[in-house]
Amino acid sequence: MKVNKKLLTLLIIGGMSVSANSMAETTTAQALANTCAGCHGTDGSSNGPATPSLAGISVDYFKDAMADYKAKDGRYSTIMSRIAKGYSEEEIALMADYFSKQTFVRKEQQFDPKLAKQGGKLHRKYCEKCHEDGGRSSEDDAGILAGQWMDYLHYTMDDFKNGRRDIPKKMKKKVSKLEKDKGPEALEALINYYGSQK
Ligand code: HEC
Ligand code: HEC
Repeated sequence: MKVNKKLLTLLIIGGMSVSANSMAETTTAQALANTCAGCHGTDGSSNGPATPSLAGISVDYFKDAMADYKAKDGRYSTIMSRIAKGYSEEEIALMADYFSKQTFVRKEQQFDPKLAKQGGKLHRKYCEKCHEDGGRSSEDDAGILAGQWMDYLHYTMDDFKNGRRDIPKKMKKKVSKLEKDKGPEALEALINYYGSQK
């Protein structure tokens, strides 16, 4: 009996320290994420159309993006390269976990309903394979497109096309085929489709 009681006490203390640890981690992650809130909004829901929302982002995509911003000659950015350099790998991992657990909030945006409808069809044909569930999924580690800010999508598609941001080979093929088949307005239709999603 006595031994069991001791064991029980040990188990309880053990359990408490584990949960205290993870609580400390959550607090740290939240504190770190707060340093991004001025631009990316509370809990990663951005209010400014040139700044992407981060809520719900996949852990791998987030880590890759931060590593890429840090890298010399890495992903082009107006500001993120300087910011990313200020955080260690551990801090980035904590933030990745934190942002991935937040809910993506789709803010109201102005879009052209006719273009959005065309965009939906184009999405299913050219993009759905890797941006699943109409671009809502984060499981494909490719960023969330549905409800992302349209201005940001314009900028980043320009970066892909100008070669300032590395474009995955197979995506490049699809984007080229899209523009060859449907003309340069097709991308506009797709962006309106993503912006239209609630
Ligand atoms: C001063 C404004 C600002 C701050 C502060 C800021 N960001 Fe950003 N972030 C941006 C902008 C703007 C972009 C688009 C790329 C660019 O032009 O820099 C971006 C892009 C990103 C992306 C790419 C998202 C995607 O969909 O590919 C990630 C990830 C990111 N930021 C993470 C962070 C984290 C983490 C922090 C806090 C440690 C942070 N940002 C702080 C403005 C900011
Ligand atoms: C073969 C897979 C594949 C296809 C097809 C594809 N993509 Fe992508 N896409 C990706 C991957 C992977 C990434 C992440 C790239 C990175 O890590 O920088 C991405 C990233 C993006 C981003 C940036 C997201 C962000 O948050 O910054 C946009 C916008 C995008 N894709 C649009 C499209 C559109 C529009 C189509 C259809 C014309 C398309 N993609 C087709 C794989 C694909």
